[in-house]
Amino acid sequence: MTNNLPIGVFDSGVGGLTVAKEIMLRLPKESLLYFGDTARVPYGNKSEETVITYSRQIARFLCSHEVKAIVIACNTASAFALDTLAAEFPVPVIGVVKPGAKAAAAKTAKGRIGVIATSGTIKSGLYERYLASINPELKVFGKACPLFVPLVEEGLTSDSVTKMMAERYLTPLLSEGIDALVLGCTHYPLLTDVIGEVCGPGVALVNPAYETAKELSELLSEKNLLKTDDTPAAHRFFVSDGEEQFRRFADTILPCELEEADVNRMVLS
Ligand code: DGL
Repeated sequence: MTNNLPIGVFDSGVGGLTVAKEIMLRLPKESLLYFGDTARVPYGNKSEETVITYSRQIARFLCSHEVKAIVIACNTASAFALDTLAAEFPVPVIGVVKPGAKAAAAKTAKGRIGVIATSGTIKSGLYERYLASINPELKVFGKACPLFVPLVEEGLTSDSVTKMMAERYLTPLLSEGIDALVLGCTHYPLLTDVIGEVCGPGVALVNPAYETAKELSELLSEKNLLKTDDTPAAHRFFVSDGEEQFRRFADTILPCELEEADVNRMVLS
């Protein structure tokens, strides 16, 4: 029965675990089939064409394992490949950009929103376009923050170097008078403390991972796709390289511990 199939979730690597975590917390009965493209990360500085090619390969892999929906957990892949995957695959596909944009539009009082993300996501202009479609009066200020991803992956989430970079990246946005900031990259919710400190209480931080889990729950319910049997959730993870490193990172993020057998290696082409 389709309802009891897992939800496919993919990302360029480990960052999408921030999205998997929010889905696990909101939909604890659902099983996830996660693919992290750790051999080809980062996607954030790759071309649209390359990101679409990789995303298509991963969606094909997820569908070959029978999933009932696909969540593109990666902001860059959501920005470049959502329309392609939604048109080509027979299951509902959602990305993280639209839910993040919707929440930011709801949170701003001044109509001035900052978006921080990878270079690819900023270049795509997708956050701006979604926000303009919600309210053309909104002013959107984008900023690529390429050093945040390696800083998180090095475990420097509350290091003074990270704080310094946050000040450098965020000062131009703060001087535009933003009162909402989209954390438009999978890794940035892990920097919420540092970013919140730099921005101060006058700026609402928007976590697209949280908003996506909410939207996924609504989508599954609307389409009558919520899990119906009472078996406990069983998650499986596939990575294209570095299973051990992935497992270590996952154990610091996910609300459950991973067993050795839960993480498998799969090279796609
Ligand atoms: N997952 C990517 C994103 O959310 C960040 C890492 C990368 O550049 O691949 O855009």
